[in-house]
Amino acid sequence: MNIVIFGPPGAGKGTQSNLIVKTFNLHQLSTGELLRKEIKDNTKLGKQISSIIKDGNLVSDNIVGDLIEKYLSNKIYKNRLIFDGYPRNLIQAKNLDRLLDKYDQKIHIVLKLSVSLETIKKRILERKNLEKRSDDKEEIAIKRFETYENNIKPVIDFYKQSQLLRVVNGETTISKISDEISGLIKSIKGWL
Ligand code: AP5
Ligand code: MG
Repeated sequence: MNIVIFGPPGAGKGTQSNLIVKTFNLHQLSTGELLRKEIKDNTKLGKQISSIIKDGNLVSDNIVGDLIEKYLSNKIYKNRLIFDGYPRNLIQAKNLDRLLDKYDQKIHIVLKLSVSLETIKKRILERKNLEKRSDDKEEIAIKRFETYENNIKPVIDFYKQSQLLRVVNGETTISKISDEISGLIKSIKGWL
């Protein structure tokens, strides 16, 4: 089973993916985490993308497309991926479909976590002290939210059309959200 989880910055994509991978024995593929690792390791790619991430903009579709293809093409992860933060625009959604076709896989469910900007600001400012992410400043959190809002509508429509989209209220507690998500996943026919 492959899952897509998306939502604004601080919606809880990472938190919930972490719980899902344990319950359903999947592998979390967070494009944000992979990109931050490139920056931390000071690779050529890391140097290229560091200011884009710091400013709350999207990295190029080709770069993130190459990252996810590495996982989709790896048999170890076949039908075991949870895409955390990909796709983020219509080009990426179509690219994901193309790659799934290429590697004979499909998406079983798409989860959208809905959270207000007020909650996002609060969560990101709280996390700021713990994780020291270069993009966890209030004005950049707002910028990331705007980037999300400006790109996501066609992605929502795309997954509505294929009837894969499930909207989850991301404002409640971590465990309530997790229970709801687990229920949704288990309701998929043949989820094992
Ligand atoms: P990415 O790393 O994906 O960041 P993001 O989308 O801004 O989301 P976050 O990771 O900040 O939040 P989250 O939804 O994972 O929430 P979390 O669980 O941490 O992307 C970073 C950057 O990389 C992008 O801006 C872009 O530049 C680039 N990038 C990534 N993917 C790309 C792509 N596909 N294309 C192009 N560029 C890309 O939770 C947040 C906090 O809230 C935590 O402290 C958590 O403990 C807390 N929390 C979570 N849930 C709850 C809850 N229910 N109640 C209370 N607190 C909660
Ligand atoms: Mg995250």
